[in-house]
Amino acid sequence: MGIINWKELLYPYEQAVEELLLKFRSLEKECRRLGMYSPIDSVSGRLKRPASILDKAGKKQIPPDKIEEKIEDIAGIRILCQFVEDIEKVVQIVRTRADMRVVEERDYITNTKPSGYRSYHMIIRYPLNTALGYKEIFAEIQIRTNAMNFWATAEHSLRYKYSGNIPQHLQERLTNCAEAAFRLDQEMTTIREEITNAQILNEIRDNLTANILDNIQNLYFVAKLEDMDEINKEFVEVWNSEDVDALRAFNDKLNVLAEMYRV
Ligand code: GTP
Ligand code: MG
Repeated sequence: MGIINWKELLYPYEQAVEELLLKFRSLEKECRRLGMYSPIDSVSGRLKRPASILDKAGKKQIPPDKIEEKIEDIAGIRILCQFVEDIEKVVQIVRTRADMRVVEERDYITNTKPSGYRSYHMIIRYPLNTALGYKEIFAEIQIRTNAMNFWATAEHSLRYKYSGNIPQHLQERLTNCAEAAFRLDQEMTTIREEITNAQILNEIRDNLTANILDNIQNLYFVAKLEDMDEINKEFVEVWNSEDVDALRAFNDKLNVLAEMYRV
């Protein structure tokens, strides 16, 4: 193998991981702020280590100057979803984004791997503006449920420990676990609507409460003390009622009041 300038090779990929993390996390945060359900539960990212890159290049007989062209997962992000149904939504989002281009998709959910591995993989071309100019790189996006991830992480650790040759008795257990994870996803699907409705409601309640507290805080500077007494009493009442509509009405009222005082 020739000499590889790792810093120069990896820097764009590091930047890509950071950008992609920021973008998908913003999407998640935006949904929550808007009181919408987020198909993204969490996002993580990683840069492939030089040792793994060399390992893969060796196995696939890729010369050093072809690494960027042939190894598609130097930059990788993983998007975790609560429900299997969310995966398709995330896939659709990735497909239609203007800032990345999908070049390959592998559906290991419809086509579970013999190992029991389930996940949806997308390879994208991602444009980067670096100090050295414009550049397009490959990145891998893995989309899976928390249950799929739980299993894959465990299996990966064992595979690594046993250098790929997992003992038979463990392998059987792992296969059982894969089936259990699959059933968990199926069971969760049956109460998906209940869960997502509850989550949206909680999110709305949290947003309203934060707004109300902000308003009260600001009104303290301008409103009459006896008015504030009244407002605080009403807040405790509305809060204890656990009624979102009451919370919303109270929030509207405070908004009007704040507008009157122009705070
Ligand atoms: P690579 O040479 O690893 O890139 O394989 P590939 O090009 O055929 O891609 P594939 O989509 O099969 O796998 C890409 C990535 O998916 C791997 O690097 C792992 O992170 C993950 N993966 C694939 N198969 C398995 C599996 O059986 N178990 C676990 N834990 N992860 C897997
Ligand atoms: Mg691959």
